[in-house]
Amino acid sequence: SASDPALVERARRAKAALGDRVFVLGHHYQRDEVIQFADVTGDSFKLAREAAARPDAEYIVFCGVHFMAESADILTGDSQKVVLPDLAAGCSMADMATFDQVEECWEALEDAGIAEITVPVTYMNSSADIKAFCGRNGGVVCTSSNARRALEWAFSRGEKVLFLPDQHLGRNTAVLEMGLSLDDCVVYNPHRPNGGLTAGQLENAKVILWKGHCSVHGRFSAECVDDVRERIPGVNVLVHPECRHEVVTKADHVGSTEYIIKKLEEAPAGSSWAVGTELNLVKRLGTMFPDKNVTFLDRTVCYCSTMNRIDLPHLVWSLESLAAGQVVNQITVDEDTSHWAKVALERMLALP
Ligand code: 13P
Ligand code: SF4
Repeated sequence: SASDPALVERARRAKAALGDRVFVLGHHYQRDEVIQFADVTGDSFKLAREAAARPDAEYIVFCGVHFMAESADILTGDSQKVVLPDLAAGCSMADMATFDQVEECWEALEDAGIAEITVPVTYMNSSADIKAFCGRNGGVVCTSSNARRALEWAFSRGEKVLFLPDQHLGRNTAVLEMGLSLDDCVVYNPHRPNGGLTAGQLENAKVILWKGHCSVHGRFSAECVDDVRERIPGVNVLVHPECRHEVVTKADHVGSTEYIIKKLEEAPAGSSWAVGTELNLVKRLGTMFPDKNVTFLDRTVCYCSTMNRIDLPHLVWSLESLAAGQVVNQITVDEDTSHWAKVALERMLALP
């Protein structure tokens, strides 16, 4: 469908017919065929801010995944409608923490007598009810571009942090950016009684990491880094903080998708880069910076299958429906959840 000129023309027409009534947001992991129609592209943090800053658009078409569209709905006014072109565009990491599991975890912390001194921090990649849980319990949301500031904020308010749902972002930030030790971190497994942790382990931990991960970034291994350094002398290894700790430890640079793009922009011509993040973005970096040598960190391909659900046919269908006055695939968050999730999101937006 990428090269289907008829679909490209239909998307262009529907978007033109809607004019300022529609604003299209595109995450960096989206397909080229979709990203060409984005009014703004960005990482999770930038897109949340962009959604909040569009009071005039009647419709926000979110080309990304479900938790991003939910956050956009929470941050926008009542009159605005957020549309996700394919409702099946979820996130396997976000699905690894359900509200009931998190409540059960919090009860375990209460039983251990540490809930009062623990601040919950959730990665953006979580459902709205987990964000609301954090809002209600004095916590905050973070993204990959402000995880350190969010953790510092949390430690200014409590002695311990419960980090949801990405253990890797939590560990990488605590250990590599804040100087905590690996022993300060424990992993809470929602499928085991008491998270699989003893009272003593909970007592001693500074960071309680939820046992969740991204299946896309989880595929990069330490061997991938060794292998690419052998193949390409002088290569710079640039990875996303959702990668495993041993991968991030071996890399030269780590950051969000927006950071990854900026790093490539600033890189000297002729330099070599092995990038450990989703493949649509890595391929695009190659096209954007033809004077630099960009390779994918792994030898086998790995797209995010749910990001890829949003394709040109789905985008055309959403835009044409809106242009015909029919709102499809609207994402709405109920009022109470929205209120508390917004508290946690606004704490993030207010971080220094
Ligand atoms: P960022 O774009 O914020 O780095 O997030 C990456 C990601 O996995 C989104 O799903
Ligand atoms: Fe979720 Fe990973 Fe896909 Fe991001 S790349 S949407 S974290 S599965």
